[in-house]
Amino acid sequence: MRLLVLGGTLFLGRHVVAAALARGHDVATFTRGVTGSPPDGVRALHGDRDDPGVLPAALGEWRPELVVDTSCQSRAAARHAAAVLGDVRGYAFVSSLNAYRNWPPGPVRSEDDPVWQTDDDEYGPIKAAAERELGAVLGDRFLTARAGLIVGPHDTVDRLGWWLRRIARGGRVAVPDALEQPLAVVDARDLAGWLVEMAERGVGGPVTATGPVGMTTLGGLLAVCREVTGSDAALVPVPEEELLAAGVEPWQDLPLWLPQDVAATAWAVDTTRARRLGLPVRPVRESVADTWAWLRDAGELPAPPHGRPRPGLDPGREARLLAGH
Ligand SMILES: NC(=O)c1ccc[n+]([C@@H]2O[C@H](COP(=O)([O-])OP(=O)(O)OC[C@H]3O[C@@H](n4cnc5c(N)ncnc54)[C@H](OP(=O)(O)O)[C@@H]3O)[C@@H](O)[C@H]2O)c1
Repeated sequence: MRLLVLGGTLFLGRHVVAAALARGHDVATFTRGVTGSPPDGVRALHGDRDDPGVLPAALGEWRPELVVDTSCQSRAAARHAAAVLGDVRGYAFVSSLNAYRNWPPGPVRSEDDPVWQTDDDEYGPIKAAAERELGAVLGDRFLTARAGLIVGPHDTVDRLGWWLRRIARGGRVAVPDALEQPLAVVDARDLAGWLVEMAERGVGGPVTATGPVGMTTLGGLLAVCREVTGSDAALVPVPEEELLAAGVEPWQDLPLWLPQDVAATAWAVDTTRARRLGLPVRPVRESVADTWAWLRDAGELPAPPHGRPRPGLDPGREARLLAGH
């Protein structure tokens, strides 16, 4: 079928393109042409989805039957897509756990938990508004995947990547003394293939799209980083109070770490519907090993998307934290 990827040249979208090609679709990507190009055999359509009128002009006579939307970051982008793509057979949209009003800290008990209804120009409210905009036009042909932490090769957000490089460098590595805190991830390749399948089947509704509760822990993930990089790094736990007092920002400076009060519920996220709909759960070790294999050849990474700062702790700050331990 004719499958349009809104996005498709960076991380998740790139895997969506690969999955769609592997499943025999006639694939087009729609991007600004800033980030990169899709592989041969894919129609590369260009334009800024925040501008009205650009998407229909780029599509011309080529009418998609299926859409996977990985690039929506504004209300306008959702509105413009809804105006043009309302007649497709299946539309799989990538949203976020942040669409839930109570996440973080969660928990997320089901897809019926309330989502943001405000006009705030922030990530979660924008994703929730985009879901409403597109859902109103597409009805039960619209699936919104409220993704958790996405990992895998080509991840330029670079949270897991930062830990891999830091641990590979070896020596004493400052880690939060919260290694038992739960963590769930979804591999971009699993999510991508599943999104294509959901669009093909015309499955609708919201789906909390991440790994199951109990999948791993922060410490479990870091241990796998140590193993796959072959590092002799010594993980040195630093108490949370010390980290916070030193201005170490959870999730950002020490990626994937959340303060205890948030971590207690943040990964208590029910994924029953995702499991029922067959969202795969790849072994964490495979995701980490493949991310490391890609990183080693990736060279200098582009800046993280959407103007986000690069995650990670600089060596000077880490040395000061380690001094007392
Ligand atoms: N990373 C996580 O852990 C996480 C967690 C939850 C949800 N999410 C969501 O998952 C999705 C991740 O997608 P990704 O970034 O990996 O997807 P991607 O499709 O691989 O990359 C983003 C694409 O959007 C295009 N793009 C950006 N701005 C555009 C615009 N204004 N008009 C047209 N195209 C535009 C980029 O190309 P050009 O630059 O060339 O335009 C690029 O191809 C996002 O929706 C994110 O909010 C991520």
